[in-house]
Amino acid sequence: MGEMCHQVMAQIVGHDTVNRFHRLRLLVPDIARNACPGQFVCLFPDDGDGLPLSASLNVRFIMPRPFSISDAEGDEIEIAFSVVGAGTGFIARLGIGDSIRVLGPLGKPFVWRDGHDVALLVGGGIGYAPLPFLARTLSRMGVDVVAIVGARSFDELPVRVTQKRVLEIGGAQIAADEFARHGVPSAIALEQPHFGSFHGTAVDLALEWLEANKHRRVAVYACGPREMLKCLQRILIKRAIDGQFSVEERMACGLGLCFGCACKVVEDGKEHYRLACVDGPVFDACTLIL
Ligand SMILES: Cc1cc2nc3c(=O)[nH]c(=O)nc-3n(C[C@H](O)[C@H](O)[C@H](O)COP(=O)(O)OP(=O)(O)OC[C@H]3O[C@@H](n4cnc5c(N)ncnc54)[C@H](O)[C@@H]3O)c2cc1C
Ligand code: FES
Repeated sequence: MGEMCHQVMAQIVGHDTVNRFHRLRLLVPDIARNACPGQFVCLFPDDGDGLPLSASLNVRFIMPRPFSISDAEGDEIEIAFSVVGAGTGFIARLGIGDSIRVLGPLGKPFVWRDGHDVALLVGGGIGYAPLPFLARTLSRMGVDVVAIVGARSFDELPVRVTQKRVLEIGGAQIAADEFARHGVPSAIALEQPHFGSFHGTAVDLALEWLEANKHRRVAVYACGPREMLKCLQRILIKRAIDGQFSVEERMACGLGLCFGCACKVVEDGKEHYRLACVDGPVFDACTLIL
């Protein structure tokens, strides 16, 4: 656990939904002040003593559930998630005023390296989650940032749609409010056509944007389904573009103890295992074996 990592009972100060996706705001001053984009927190769906919060819930949660820090400001952080099992189902039922034990910030953040002149952020589905915090941070640093969010259909979009700050590419006429609120232009790619969106995947639109911005030194930051990262990785390698991916491997302890999150990377021409929770979740795009 890093020096700056804290375990606290966090109060829920906001909970809203977009389609089937939840967004929670947590009051966690020590975590919020130390968090960097790309890092994550672990939520313990219990009452703080390892016991289920709700007596009606006969599942005993032992392992924490990791979530990217989707945004951080002042004393608060935001997480965005979809319900996939018992843990996320439990967290989705928390309301304003409830508390949950939170550990963080954990993991290695995204980094901005000199020598680039624009950041392209690509999020696939709920994988967009770590990117608004990155957008906020980079734009405050004065970096030129643009974002693309992809989903299967309009009903599967995890972000709120706006007509402000639309990224002019692929005929897009709608943007994501999660980026617009940080002054960052974005576009939405949907596999099922919908008014105002680009028709195709997030990677198709990213390719179109990269083609139109060939002359620029781009750094790509992405998070999403493995297939999306694989396609994007092929493009980045072919075009020798720098990128960083956040991989959301299955995790258990979140602390480098259980080896439940091992993933393969190639470094110095050799394959190595790395732990997504402590060596990641952010890795150089081209080193990952996906
Ligand atoms: C570093 C990191 C950051 C993450 N950030 C987010 C985020 O911002 N938003 C979000 O919605 N989810 C995120 N996840 C995934 C999230 O942690 C899992 O969805 C959650 O732990 C599932 O818990 P559960 O008890 O509801 O599901 P379980 O009962 O444990 O599992 C139910 C189903 O979910 C699948 N599942 C479990 N864990 C994962 C996982 N890590 N990735 C994909 N599928 C999984 C299982 O295969 C199973 O089918 C992140 C994971 C990691 C490792
Ligand atoms: S989750 Fe236990 S080592 Fe990474």
